[in-house]
Amino acid sequence: MVGIIDEIKPLMERFESTLVDIDPSEFVEVNEVVTHILTSGGKRLRPLLLLTAGEMVGLTEEHIFLACAVEMIHTATLLHDDVIDKSELRRGRPTANAEYGVPASILFGDYLYTKSLRLLLKYGNDRISNSLLSVVKLMSEGEIKQMLKSHSPDIGEAVYFEVIEAKTSCLFELSCDMATLLILNKDHEYVRACHSYGHHFGNAFQITDDIIDYRSYTEVMGKTAGDDFAEGKVTLPLIHLLKNCSSAEKKMINDLLVLDQKNSDQIRRDRFPEIVDLMHRYHSFDYCDAVANREIESARNSLKVFSDTVYKKSLISLAEQIADRRC
Ligand code: IPE
Ligand code: IPE
Ligand code: MG
Ligand code: MG
Ligand code: MG
Repeated sequence: MVGIIDEIKPLMERFESTLVDIDPSEFVEVNEVVTHILTSGGKRLRPLLLLTAGEMVGLTEEHIFLACAVEMIHTATLLHDDVIDKSELRRGRPTANAEYGVPASILFGDYLYTKSLRLLLKYGNDRISNSLLSVVKLMSEGEIKQMLKSHSPDIGEAVYFEVIEAKTSCLFELSCDMATLLILNKDHEYVRACHSYGHHFGNAFQITDDIIDYRSYTEVMGKTAGDDFAEGKVTLPLIHLLKNCSSAEKKMINDLLVLDQKNSDQIRRDRFPEIVDLMHRYHSFDYCDAVANREIESARNSLKVFSDTVYKKSLISLAEQIADRRC
């Protein structure tokens, strides 16, 4: 999906080598697994936003290290997320919980969180520390809220947005904050503009992620299609469907969502194609595409204060590419 412009490629290469070399453990086994996890095919979107936004405001050496910190936080959240979601496939490979087990995933997630905090202490500043600590707290709150709201057919769009802003968008905001707050004060218009870009980028990104969980295919996504419904998560496509389908269909979906028996996940998985058919019939994907496009438009508008550089164009293009996201 991700198109990296030539001007950013050398920076991304430096980011890649720093990411695997920095602050190694004394335990060879730990380094081996961490390197494997960190280089297993992520799209590197958050470092890309950070370094591109960094170029817009004035890039420094420290930006590279903060890009590593944000990718480590992202990787830690994925390790924990795959345990919470009982996911077995990510980036077309077995998840760490499938390969190394749940305890290892939790421990390596904690390890990467800690590594990122050490990088922050060394290369960041107070403004960035404040932003990062709020984000890590908020991401956990987002996951907790999502867990508490699972299997609840009546959640509406307001709660859905609260969840995605907390669990996903705030890390894109942080990537942009790290770029700007390294050199600017938090009330600078460039800081606000980039933060707003990250916010809308993140919303569009998670909405699309929730669409493709229903509309795409496991082989294309590299993640198992239908996981969200199997887990009883009520995301935007399902919220739209529940609001627009007939009362008999709504009752059928409600009954599936609240099922509470040993094989409930498998029962929902078996009924998944029916739900996808209904989503097509009631234009739920068209609706969600429109909501995602609205967020992409807001991301683009957030950057109006910047002059037209190759970096700004690249950020706009990255936001636009979310709409075509398949993995
Ligand atoms: C996955 O993020 C988690 C979500 C916020 C949906 P990415 O799709 O950016 O993960 P990788 O690193 O590219 O695999
Ligand atoms: C994003 O939500 C989770 C994080 C912010 C870590 P998902 O649970 O939908 O992400 P994927 O689909 O597993 O990547
Ligand atoms: Mg997940
Ligand atoms: Mg999840
Ligand atoms: Mg998902």
